[in-house]
This record gives sequence, C-alpha cells and structure tokens, in this order.
Amino acid sequence: MNVTNKPSGGAPLSNDALEAHWMPFSSNREFKASPRMVRKSEGMYLWNQNGDKLIDGSSGLFNVAAGHGRREIADAVHAQMLENDYTSPFQLGQSKSFEFADRLAQLLPDPFNHVFFVNSGSESIDTALKMVMAYHRARGQGQRLRFVSRERAYHGVNIGGVSLAGMVRNRETFPVVMPNIVMMRHTWDEAHLFERGQPEHGAELADDLLRMVQTYGGSTIGAVFVEPVAGSTGTLVPPKGYLERLRKICDDNGILLVFDEVITGFGRLGAPFASQKFGVQPDIMTMAKALTNGAIPMGAVAATDHVYETITGAAPENAIEFFHGYTYSGHPAACAAGIATLDIYEREGLFEKAAELSDYFLDAIWSLKDLPIVRDIRGIGLMAGVEVFPLEGKPGARGNELQKSLFWNGCHVKWTGDSAIVAPSFVAERGHVDEIVDALRRTLKDQ
Ligand SMILES: Cc1ncc(COP(=O)(O)O)c(C=O)c1O
Repeated sequence: MNVTNKPSGGAPLSNDALEAHWMPFSSNREFKASPRMVRKSEGMYLWNQNGDKLIDGSSGLFNVAAGHGRREIADAVHAQMLENDYTSPFQLGQSKSFEFADRLAQLLPDPFNHVFFVNSGSESIDTALKMVMAYHRARGQGQRLRFVSRERAYHGVNIGGVSLAGMVRNRETFPVVMPNIVMMRHTWDEAHLFERGQPEHGAELADDLLRMVQTYGGSTIGAVFVEPVAGSTGTLVPPKGYLERLRKICDDNGILLVFDEVITGFGRLGAPFASQKFGVQPDIMTMAKALTNGAIPMGAVAATDHVYETITGAAPENAIEFFHGYTYSGHPAACAAGIATLDIYEREGLFEKAAELSDYFLDAIWSLKDLPIVRDIRGIGLMAGVEVFPLEGKPGARGNELQKSLFWNGCHVKWTGDSAIVAPSFVAERGHVDEIVDALRRTLKDQ
C-alpha cells in the first residue's frame, strides 16, 4: 500500500519517511509497508490517516484514564513550561514536585508518605529494586540479594525489569540479566476458565514463596515483586487470599513486598490502587501510566514511612542518603501534568465512575464467550483479557492479525500474544462499551 500519511499539522509522510523511526515492540517491516497512523485523539476516540474514527478500547496503553485531549493538562503543562521549564532535581527544588508528591501521598494508602519520581514504569522498577537493596543494607542485612518474581510477569524493559520478567519473548534475546532471581508460578489455571473477578481457588500458589524460603533461606531474599493483577500477559486476576498469603510469608521472613501498580494504579480497579481494592498493603509501590493520564512520560515509586526512614536514617548526617535519581526526576512539566490529572480524577469522580461501570463492562465482555474462537475471558474493574485459541504452532500470530483487523474495523485494542487487553478510559459511557464489544465481536467472528 502506498500511503501518504499526514499527521495533524505535520508534513506529509511518504513510506520512505517512516524508515528512520525504529519503532518499539512493533513489526517495523510490516508496519512500514502498511502503516496504521493516528492523526488525532479526543475523548474515547482516535482518527486514523484516512480520517476514520476509531474507539480506543485500551485507553492508549491503559494510561489515558481520563480520556484523550484533556485541555486542563495541556494548559497546565504550557503554563509551567513558560514559568519554569527545568530545574536540576539534585540538591535543588522547584515547587511542583513537592506539591505533586504531597497530593499523591494523600491519595496513597496511609503509611505511603514518600514518593520518588522517575520517568517511566521501567524506571520505577529499577528504582524499587535499588530501594530494596538500600533498605536491607541500612538494616545490616545486605545479604538479602535474591529477588522473587513470577512467571508471566511484566515489569518493563530495563535490565531490572527484564530480570524480573516472566514473559519469554521479553527475555530470551537478553540473557545477561541480574543474577539470583527466582520465579513463582503464575496464577492462571485451567480451572479458572471464564471465572469473573478473583478466582475462588489458587491462594495456595502463594506458597511457592514459602518453598523458596525453605530452599534458599528467607534471610537471603530481599523482596517479592508482583503485579497485583498481571496486566501485560492478558489480565490474570489474583485468586482470593493469594495476595494476603504472600504478605504473611513476607512478614514472617523479613521480606519486602513490592506491588507493581503501573497498570492497576489510579482507579483501574475502581479503587485508587489495587492495594486498597484487595486490602493488602505492600512496602513499596511502583506506578506510571495514568499518573499523568499518559500525556507526559512519568513514573513514581512510593515508599512507606518505615522504608523511607530506614534508608534516610542510616546515612551520616547531611550526606546523600540514596545514590539514585534521573536528570528528569520530578520534571516540572510532568508534575504539572500529574497535578492537573489528579484534579480531573477528583473533580469528575472518575475512580467512582470506573467502579460504577465495571459490572456493565464485564457483562458486555463476557457476552463474547459464545464465540468459538474465544478460549478464556478474565477481568476485574475496567480491565479484561479476552484470550483466543492460538493458530497451530504460531502462538501470538492470531492476536497480531486481530489487532490489525480491529484497527480497520474501527477499534484500537492492545493485544499481547493471543489475548486482547480491553481497558477503556473512565470517561466511557455504556454506549462506548457496546461499541468496543461490537467491534470485537465483528472482528472475532470473522476468524
Ligand atoms: C506492570 C508494569 N510494570 C512496568 C511497566 C513498564 O512501564 P513503561 O512502559 O512505562 O516503562 C508496564 C508497562 O506496561 C507494566 O504494565
């Protein structure tokens, strides 16, 4: 296809002009031969290169929680850039990062009163790994250098995140990762097929952690990293009692529990954080994505008073306590975007709206169960995985084709392997949910 794309306000792009950009997590050769471009986005919708309107069934990459094109965020960033575009975050301050951290601390569960800013979810994971090491070292337990993760986990793409990764394609090309990482089993089970919300059975899978304690010695383990709901592998909801059991084993053995809330944070499950939804409190929480409604790259790591005070308290007076940070930690424009985003969430009651829409959304998604191609459906809050049977000997190929077909059928949904991750923004109305599910049905039934 010989396309001339014209993104809004930009110069026309020929196919040759697409070559320079090496696209992330994309089939570059295929895409550049047949591009799928978005030239405008607003509310629940995107417009493609032909001017066709598409509904955004994954709110971007599950980050545009308040819908696209929020003027308040753009205005806040614009005003901030004119007032103070950049301040070194090392040994110098600017008010926006303090204000944003304070606002986040108010939203976070009680003892999470300290926020470290980074620029992405992947950086939040590396930062959390370092916090764990610094915490144990500060307590004279620097030998706790083993980390526990889980099969099918996704914790971003930096070396820390790849080390913890449980999705094979994300690690098989990159074998040089951190040592001493051990994997618990994932929580998906054939017996959970089409079970809505938290599966009734499977809490005992948390005892994998106990086996690691028994095998390696609890005193060698620094932390357990889990996504409360495993997102990028296609939405695996934790069985009832599973997270509670992990918490207990961590407590019994001096192990820190890290929740990666990069997807689940900021209302996706109907509560501000998964920690509140499931009533289980970790020691460290990572976040990104909806932190700024996806408008400006940003991530953050929240620590409890205990973790923060242990690390800072161990350093000599007036010394730097944590030798870590990024040039763009707490960038003023990102903080301005984040504050404006929190204002929108609060003013429009979007977390409550997400909770109210959840039943309707899950009913609509579960209506796809009758399609012969559908192998499993999982979901909670405004997040669902629709898994299709793979093509023989080609795992992921069908999902890839379906993502493209859906685009041309008027809907953006992110696929991972052979699972669609449906996660609309919280401004969605019932009619939007119907539109997404109709597009899925039309596309899946053609297979
Ligand atoms: C749970 C989780 N952690 C970390 C990341 C990495 O975030 P980023 O792509 O912003 O680096 C993601 C991204 O999808 C994620 O889902």
